[in-house]
Amino acid sequence: MRNIKDETNLNQKKVLLRLDLNVPLNNGKITDTTRIDKILPTINFLLKSNTKVIILSHVGRPKGKVVNELSLKPICESLKNKLNQDIRLISKNIKKIKSTDLFDANNEKIVILENLRFYEEEEKNDNVFARHLASLADIYVNDAFSCSHRAHASIFEITKFIPSYAGLQLNLEIDALSKITSEIKKPITCIIGGSKISTKINVIKNLIPKFDNIIIVGGMANNVLKFKGHNIGKSIQEDNCDKIIEEIFSLSIKKNCKIIYPEDVTVGKDLNGSAQIKELNDVSENELILDIGPKSIKNINNIIEESNTILWNGPAGYFENPSFAKGSLEIMKKIVEKNKANTIYSVAGGGDTVALLNSVGAVNNFDFVSTAGGAFLEYLEGKELPGIKALN
Ligand code: 3PG
Repeated sequence: MRNIKDETNLNQKKVLLRLDLNVPLNNGKITDTTRIDKILPTINFLLKSNTKVIILSHVGRPKGKVVNELSLKPICESLKNKLNQDIRLISKNIKKIKSTDLFDANNEKIVILENLRFYEEEEKNDNVFARHLASLADIYVNDAFSCSHRAHASIFEITKFIPSYAGLQLNLEIDALSKITSEIKKPITCIIGGSKISTKINVIKNLIPKFDNIIIVGGMANNVLKFKGHNIGKSIQEDNCDKIIEEIFSLSIKKNCKIIYPEDVTVGKDLNGSAQIKELNDVSENELILDIGPKSIKNINNIIEESNTILWNGPAGYFENPSFAKGSLEIMKKIVEKNKANTIYSVAGGGDTVALLNSVGAVNNFDFVSTAGGAFLEYLEGKELPGIKALN
């Protein structure tokens, strides 16, 4: 993969920069700017290299129609403020824009085209649309790892028409992911949570042959506890998962990977309730398992202590209620402690995990925190992402 930072001849080049500015919006206000903050170094690099930048992005899922609430306007404003730089949002129909329409006035350096998903051609990976986008610039940069699992026109097809490069962030993301999937420093442990085991089964199956430990926590651990014959009361669970769990255990034996699940739990009567620690066999019918218990925390932290690499995806409990946040916070503290001592390589990803780390300001205490959702999981499943394939 050619990286844009290795390109020496960028002076005066027009660069189409595909970003993932798909940030959460509430009544036109951005509620989390992490994705914007992360790509500022790329834009600054391109400005310093004396290029002219055409930003491409989508936000939301407008399904090929113009939806005013999903305009990139607030995102453009946020970028302007953060970069302290004038940026023009071009709302004209993308299909009618010509390369001569861009960078016309006042020594413009950055323009941003309106939401790519206002055009059905984007998600259809349309060849003509991609060719048209490519005609607007000299080179193309994909710095949207989190969109690279989508074979869309601005991610995949476009690379057929224009010299194409990986961006700075995309490179960092691939480097971090390769440290947990191919260039691994063992022992390596994965802590995996989330509510549905079926959505993570392919990740778990792909990781078992490479990992020493897989620790299952969160709502999906309830299914494992039930499978092992424990009462889980009225805890969330998924139907028909026994076969999946059987597969996980039998593969783990073959591949010599330990599967760890909670050995005690913290329960409540409801999500807003108070917490009570319980042995596995003491959970009653009217209780919900909402966090791991102290013995589980101790065991998990011992495993983290022995690990040289860690991947964390999914909190240990219902951390939105502080009574059930202890498991996740203790795991986080242990990883941060090892990280500060430089004795672990740590990667975290997934919306809830990133929200947890953000809420306690721990994002910078991990080696890498991925803001990619679907792309992160598909990479961990061992799938080849179309956007990466196109760059290769
Ligand atoms: C994301 O938020 O994961 C990316 O922007 C991709 O969005 P999508 O799931 O709507 O394709």
